[in-house]
Amino acid sequence: MLVPMTDTPPREDFLAQLGASVRDGTFVKLTLGKPRGADPTLRNLLVRPITLRGAAHLSFLWRHDRQDITKNHAPEDAITELAALIGGDFHSAHLFTTGRMTQLEFNKKGLPRLSYGPAADAPAAGGHDRAKSRLLPESSQAWLEKLGVTTATGSVREGLADKHRQIHKFVEILSHLVAEAALATDRPLEIADMGCGKGYLTFATCDYFNLVANRPAHVRGIEARAELVTLCNRLARDTGRTGLDFVQGTIASSKLATLDVLIALHACDTATDDALAKGVQAGAALIVVAPCCQKELRPQLAAAPVLAPALRHGIFQERHAEFATDALRALLLEWAGYDTKVFEFISTEHTAKNLMIAATKRLPGDRPGQIPAGPLSRSEGCATDPGLAAASNRKGGAVPRPARTEEAARKVRELAAFYGIKSQALARHFSFSLSA
Ligand SMILES: C[S@@+](CC[C@H](N)C(=O)[O-])C[C@H]1O[C@@H](n2cnc3c(N)ncnc32)[C@H](O)[C@@H]1O
Repeated sequence: MLVPMTDTPPREDFLAQLGASVRDGTFVKLTLGKPRGADPTLRNLLVRPITLRGAAHLSFLWRHDRQDITKNHAPEDAITELAALIGGDFHSAHLFTTGRMTQLEFNKKGLPRLSYGPAADAPAAGGHDRAKSRLLPESSQAWLEKLGVTTATGSVREGLADKHRQIHKFVEILSHLVAEAALATDRPLEIADMGCGKGYLTFATCDYFNLVANRPAHVRGIEARAELVTLCNRLARDTGRTGLDFVQGTIASSKLATLDVLIALHACDTATDDALAKGVQAGAALIVVAPCCQKELRPQLAAAPVLAPALRHGIFQERHAEFATDALRALLLEWAGYDTKVFEFISTEHTAKNLMIAATKRLPGDRPGQIPAGPLSRSEGCATDPGLAAASNRKGGAVPRPARTEEAARKVRELAAFYGIKSQALARHFSFSLSA
């Protein structure tokens, strides 16, 4: 640690360095500690640069005993506010720039001392796991800690490494999918996470869009269990996530006027179909699901005789049903006007529920099937060929492409026929006849 030789008083020297680094773009982060203000619950203040609607800002994360509060400021306003806090409400300050670390400490008599250390090229706290991902901001630490994934210092809790990895991997995948999807750019995005559980991915999605990707978004978690909804709404409030809320209810009964991105990870059995149908009916540009517990088709599957000896093993029956269900879903989404990708989103070493179906809506003019726009349909079969039906009930007034639609419908029906599938939840939602 170097001690400077200069005539400028330490506090003024520190503030000059802070201002210069913010203005010349070398500012990495600032941490203020040793709180001396009136609020006994305040622990520290973390400041980092962010971009909001294309303009540079400084994000202040006020960390209290029981909650974190985020406030964003224009750079000059932030510098003014920090000048009042350093040496006042806080008696310790660490400024990290691309060139070095500058520390200002006030002793018990209130006398300041300045010293220097090496530049920060990785987050000081949080360890290896956190340093690996730049797709979640520092302030995500607040909810990761409250949801029990990490400790107060940012280390991943024992037994939560898979969950931590899954959250970061999900955001990484989301960042690629967002780049491919034709998402609205003229208004805040509407995003729903259906069957959101404890909200890990809902919080991550909110932070990714609003704080990293600079795409303002309202994110809504939909969850059947009331206690999880209460917990998540409280945490959203306590961590200052204004663009995030949670509602209690079933996926099938959820009401969505506008929807840009639909997420449903590990919604059990046909709840995934309910979510897919909601996404398609609302015209979501991007749909991301990770199905699980594909039970619905098991009693229907008629395997070729050659497979019968193998399928007496329960695990093969299970895998068989998973494949038939998810393959049918992917084909139905193609029929409904989406390009689909199916892939493992995280290694089976970390979770067995690792298959992801990602669907991006094809652009207007290249959109096939007619999906009922009203409440989810439970009826089977549709009289008209959906590809020939007018697409006027879909947003965007797309021109249907009958040949492509018929081709997609044929693929769905051939797969259903091969497996002897007569009825499937997503097909019912789409009023798509599997046997026509
Ligand atoms: C396995 S958890 C997954 C949570 C979260 N999506 C994740 O991947 O971390 C499934 C959650 O979906 C909820 N769920 C299942 N079916 C649902 C339905 N039809 N409507 C609303 N929530 C549902 C359950 O209560 C549970 O919290």
